[in-house]
Amino acid sequence: MAELKIKKYGERVLRKKASAVFEITEDIKKLAADMLETMYAAHGVGLAAPQVGVSLELCVIDVSQDQKSPLVMINPKIISGEDKVFAEEGCLSLPGFYGNVKRFDKIIAEYTDLKDKKKEIKAQGFLAKAVQHEIDHLNAKIFIDFLPEWKRKVIEKEIKRKKKMGDW
Ligand code: NI
Repeated sequence: MAELKIKKYGERVLRKKASAVFEITEDIKKLAADMLETMYAAHGVGLAAPQVGVSLELCVIDVSQDQKSPLVMINPKIISGEDKVFAEEGCLSLPGFYGNVKRFDKIIAEYTDLKDKKKEIKAQGFLAKAVQHEIDHLNAKIFIDFLPEWKRKVIEKEIKRKKKMGDW
């Protein structure tokens, strides 16, 4: 396994819609393993392939961070959702920034696992939020897109400042 470099906000791959995975190859398995290693090393709870520069519909999630039962989701889709609530979230591509995002509290999602089996997951609370956040990445969306415009502007300005200082 290898730790991968996490793309930061501003890199184009994060704004590109990811392509579906057509076959679970050895490369896909290795990518998933490397993404998990990268996510754990960064103390994250979720990571999507575009965040490591690969524009494919694949994401990994482990809200417990205990590395016992990570979720590897290939071609995931939200089938249904209910009870929209606000909760604070962050993103490994936007280190140091947080914001309140309104999302479904309960969802049902479907995906393919690494054994090429179709799966369905019912999730609630933090896990439901994480699944929606990661699937957003596959659709080129980032959580700050959902913040009030003034707040997004503040964050973008701060990122510009950090870039100038070589801190981004
Ligand atoms: Ni993210």
